Amino acid sequence: MSAASGQNTSLSNGDLDNDFDFFKLQDKPKLLNLERHKSLDERSFAEVSPHGRSSRVENGQRQKSFDECISSPSKMTSSNTPRSQNGLEPHPMFIEAWESLRKTMVYFRSQPVGTIAALDNSDEKLNYDQVFVRDFVPSALAFLMNGEPEIVKNFLLKTLRLQSWEKKIDRFQLGEGVMPASFKVLHDPVRNTETIMADFGESAIGRVAPVDSGFWWIILLRAYTKSTGDASLAEMPECQKGMRLILALCLSEGFDTFPTLLCADGCSMIDRRMGVYGYPIEIQALFFMALRCALLLLKQDVQGKELINRIVKRLHALSFHMRSYFWLDMKHLNDIYRYKTEEYSHTAVNKFNVMPDSLPEWVFDFMPTQGGYFLGNVGPSNMDFRWFCLGNCVAILSSLATPEQSTAIMDLIESRWDELVGNMPVKVCYPAIESHDWRIITGCDPKNTRWSYHNGGSWPVLLWLVTAACIKVGRPQIARRAIEVAELRLAKDGWPEYYDGKNGRYIGKQARKHQTWSIAGYLVAKMMLEDPSHLGMISLEEDKQMKTIIKRSSSWTC
Ligand code: GLC
Repeated sequence: MSAASGQNTSLSNGDLDNDFDFFKLQDKPKLLNLERHKSLDERSFAEVSPHGRSSRVENGQRQKSFDECISSPSKMTSSNTPRSQNGLEPHPMFIEAWESLRKTMVYFRSQPVGTIAALDNSDEKLNYDQVFVRDFVPSALAFLMNGEPEIVKNFLLKTLRLQSWEKKIDRFQLGEGVMPASFKVLHDPVRNTETIMADFGESAIGRVAPVDSGFWWIILLRAYTKSTGDASLAEMPECQKGMRLILALCLSEGFDTFPTLLCADGCSMIDRRMGVYGYPIEIQALFFMALRCALLLLKQDVQGKELINRIVKRLHALSFHMRSYFWLDMKHLNDIYRYKTEEYSHTAVNKFNVMPDSLPEWVFDFMPTQGGYFLGNVGPSNMDFRWFCLGNCVAILSSLATPEQSTAIMDLIESRWDELVGNMPVKVCYPAIESHDWRIITGCDPKNTRWSYHNGGSWPVLLWLVTAACIKVGRPQIARRAIEVAELRLAKDGWPEYYDGKNGRYIGKQARKHQTWSIAGYLVAKMMLEDPSHLGMISLEEDKQMKTIIKRSSSWTC
């Protein structure tokens, strides 16, 4: 029996429907889940495997699991590559991508538990032979869309187990809820055992803990639940506790005056110093999405209820703050341009004391007449005007962006196509930081020189996020165009991690080849375009009541 069956607090599939009103949640009695699926008994993970199977298996062929039998949206070919639903043969690149993705699967005790970051042959492997939590997300979505949830379930349970490890950097102990950035399966051929090694930031360059990992974990748990209809995994006491621990880290009270989450530089996909410390959009959007997913997954038992109340309050405040202060369009830009400074009072218009002189030249040209985006960062006397891809797409998918804002983000992508998509979708951020600013802001990072890597490089993985956002906004043709651009060279170039140059024309200076999330991102984009119903896994509709309340607010700027 699943942990919560028999209680009237369990999750229902209805709760996972998109059109969800989290304002009502506090008093809403949850329905019993009518459909239960067998769950793998993964609760006891010995970190040592008696099987001695190689940690990486070259060919992912295997038996279909029980879960696959209940949810198999695509027609399979003999090699388990989905066939196009319109009956046409898939693009050759699509077949190649599936084959490559299977080669990256990592096994622990004969069970698939993730995919390695890159199947790179170069000597300088660094940590690309590890399973990164954030990198696994597009792989996981591809497997879910292909009716193969087993690897996703194992990954969720394995990383959950790692969360309970004691984490220390020198003599300092990290918060209980911190999820690893990555892990690796080590095989000892002599003893025929397998062990897991995880990195929570204590080995990472710069020693930063990944704030995004926990958020991705919750988002993926919801995607798994939504895709399979199997709520028993999320209902397990271990998963409920895992979520509570993650949330305890980011909902704790401190000296904050903003509902946004204060972060160190390098704590997400951009994992090196890039001047994103403070309140980066990438984290705020993931935070919002994870909170909304947690609301759907947390059981309303004694512990859950209290947390649910806190989440609801935070969501109110966070969406108000983000939609009001992070939003930039032409009108708002003009307002900032005319701001008065040094206003002391509750009625201040320029609440954060932003100096109009700090407006960069480029933003005046970049801002289209129609369109807008969420700023990179907003804090005291600080506005980072850079455009960040992940944050803006996740804002659309989580409905942090209103429908009007979502449309405006799409308008911006269309009107700044050359800058943001160019020869390879999509810029991780725009524009690059150059010369003296680069020296100060990146600390002279030679990997992040202008228009390279995290500093304005183009990352093919972002294709899936843009595609999902386009479908949500009802503009799939934009995604189709971007995919066509990628198809011109991505496979030929060997699936690089990133491209360099103003328009993304060059394979990145130190980009890995056969980067798994470049492959998986492409697959997810293709599968979603072909069957837009997959979008539900990774998208949440706007909360209707929230819309009314925020629209009534006098500070509403959009
Ligand atoms: C780099 C990227 C990071 C990614 C990792 C593995 O460190 O900056 O986002 O997770 O490589 O691909």
